Amino acid sequence: MTAFDSATASVETPMNGISAITLETAAGTLLPVFIGSNYADICGEVARQIARVARERRNAVLGLATGSTPIGVYDALIRLAASGAADLSAARSFNLDEYYPMEADSPQSYHTFMRRHLFDQVPWGHWHVPSGRNRPREIIEADCRAYEAAIQTAGGIDLQLLGIGRTGHIGFNEPGSARDSRTRLVDLSAATREDAAQNFGGLEQTPHQAVSMGLGTILEARRILLMASGASKAGIVRRAFLEPPTTDLPASLLQQHPGTALYLDTAAASDLF
Ligand code: GLP
Repeated sequence: MTAFDSATASVETPMNGISAITLETAAGTLLPVFIGSNYADICGEVARQIARVARERRNAVLGLATGSTPIGVYDALIRLAASGAADLSAARSFNLDEYYPMEADSPQSYHTFMRRHLFDQVPWGHWHVPSGRNRPREIIEADCRAYEAAIQTAGGIDLQLLGIGRTGHIGFNEPGSARDSRTRLVDLSAATREDAAQNFGGLEQTPHQAVSMGLGTILEARRILLMASGASKAGIVRRAFLEPPTTDLPASLLQQHPGTALYLDTAAASDLF
């Protein structure tokens, strides 16, 4: 049995301020959708889910994401840990992606992002972010295979946190990524580079490539929590879950993963119903 077969969609009863709704996707699957009146509510709820997974299995394996969307989750997790309501000191984590070429200690790296927003602020077991070091292709490919092997050795990902990009990408799996793709070097789309440009001081300095977990890697996680916040995400969220699944919109493949749940604020959910 694969991790996918044993996926469970169980979710802890949400706290106040969150509505739980079941959405019938274009694929005909039933998807739990949690809608918070604001961003802070959904972040608190996702942090509580992560804390719960770490409570149930001390060395739980978490798949973590970057971007602006998860920052509030990490803030909430830090608060839960400080109050004793979360213990992540034995948790293991694998991040989705890293820009390429990118030195880990660069201010713009996802390594630095994760240290700043989470790992430097809370006792954490073992964390991993893909390497974006500028190396010969065969070394990059060996690093990618080692990243996949490390996830397998850890027992697979218990809970994967995802945001969604303007193109419907998850991690840096852009439209056209293969359903069974694994961690690899990918090209970034023009839209994704435009969205990232503000963090690099302009488009010229923005990387053209990244190392990303594949869609196959992500779809093997036992549970997947996709978050979206703000009206700018409403259209892509609707297309991802109410139009038929296609690799042209990578997030839409989550319709067929029975452990997926959406965590949206009212603005991001506004085109769904
Ligand atoms: C980047 C990341 C994705 C993230 C996306 C959206 O492309 N690689 O993992 O989901 O940005 O970012 P934001 O949350 O800032 O909208």
